[in-house]
Amino acid sequence: MTSGGDFPVLPPGFLLGAATAAYQIEGGVREGNRGESIWDRFSHIPGTTYRGDTGDVACDHYARWCEDVELMAELGLQAYRFSVAWPRVLPEGIGPVNPAGLDFYDRLVDALLDRGICPFITLYHWDLPQALQDLGGWPNRDLVGYFADYAAAVAGRLGDRVHDWITFNEPWVSAFVGYYEGRHAPGLTDLAAALQAAHHALVAHGKAADAIRTYGGGETRVGITLNLCHVDPGGDGQADLEAASRYDGYLNRWFLDPLFHGRYPDDMLAVWGEEALQFAPDDLTGLSKRLDFLGVNNYSRKVICHQDGSPPVDVMECPPEGAQVTDMGWEVYPEGLYKLLVRLHRDYGPRSIYVTENGAAFPDVLQPDGTVDDPDRVDFLRSYLFAAHRALEEGVPLKGYFAWSLLDNFEWAHGYSKRFGLVYIDYATQERIVKQSGHWYRDLIAGQ
Ligand code: FCB
Repeated sequence: MTSGGDFPVLPPGFLLGAATAAYQIEGGVREGNRGESIWDRFSHIPGTTYRGDTGDVACDHYARWCEDVELMAELGLQAYRFSVAWPRVLPEGIGPVNPAGLDFYDRLVDALLDRGICPFITLYHWDLPQALQDLGGWPNRDLVGYFADYAAAVAGRLGDRVHDWITFNEPWVSAFVGYYEGRHAPGLTDLAAALQAAHHALVAHGKAADAIRTYGGGETRVGITLNLCHVDPGGDGQADLEAASRYDGYLNRWFLDPLFHGRYPDDMLAVWGEEALQFAPDDLTGLSKRLDFLGVNNYSRKVICHQDGSPPVDVMECPPEGAQVTDMGWEVYPEGLYKLLVRLHRDYGPRSIYVTENGAAFPDVLQPDGTVDDPDRVDFLRSYLFAAHRALEEGVPLKGYFAWSLLDNFEWAHGYSKRFGLVYIDYATQERIVKQSGHWYRDLIAGQ
């Protein structure tokens, strides 16, 4: 059976939504006693972002949130995934809660619920309070407890109305891109620090999950969102097969194995070396029991070849020639989402899965008649949703899908040069213009 023109009907209760993150849309960085985050500090360092762009203003969502909730209602979104900025709630990361910070999210949650939009809260989407980076950031184990306290403060205030919680967004990126590759805040290039940061995020996830259940309401579900990809070897030779497996270990299994099997993969521990990581024996115990759902962010696949001397795992990407790519240079490969979902279900058996981000950047242009046509994005979203639907038909417990993103926004080191939104932002005026893809998504939801 099809709906929305040509799309299959999704199971009852399946949520179709959109996602954003605090630093990428809010702006208002000095409003409401907000503290400084590592992204405020990092983006103001010359050379770190495209043309020196920062999130100081972004989509001005901190001031325009009412209008943005109306937009969501117009699109018919069934769910909205957003992140809470830790430095709004606890300007110094620890210590007294800042009431103005929690008030902002409290009002947002009420407005969403008024319009029948289900809120999904991400607690950490990369904007660590700078005060905690000054204590060493995620490689400092004290952050585990600080994060759990922060989670308790937010869940204590919003948990009577918010049932779906995501502790971390893409800890691989915040740890390895932030502490090892140096392309993201805090801009360090230290592999040992990155491994420790990743480990502490996992431990903090477990502690925060407990805190959310203690301080949240009765009907609380806790998940974590990982950036996961289907990985193919670039060639048939043994070296490329092993390289692809190492990359899969680095990107996917390094987080999935501890979360679902309670231990790190042996092959990757061997790659890092025995001394690389410090952890207590029971750090990873019981994480899977505390996971109600797995959030999957997926945009593309990885095609991987062996490359000697290419740290940290001796691989390079070797995408097929002539493949269709988005404005990020990422291959359009919906089959990868299908394969990934089926594999997650088979190898790890999460109770539920949500696609918490999927979407594409294209160089959208606002036409003189005030419209934005983005047929490539429509094709992208449709093909990935079809892939997700196929996985669902094969028994994958997929419960929802969030398009990235509701709005064009601050795309981290790429600044405002990459547009992912269903809604176009004219940054000069802050006008919001629903793109063709936004209209398409609205029709798809309405047809369900
Ligand atoms: C993901 C991030 C999200 C956005 C998209 C394009 O890695 O979670 O904030 O930047 O990529």
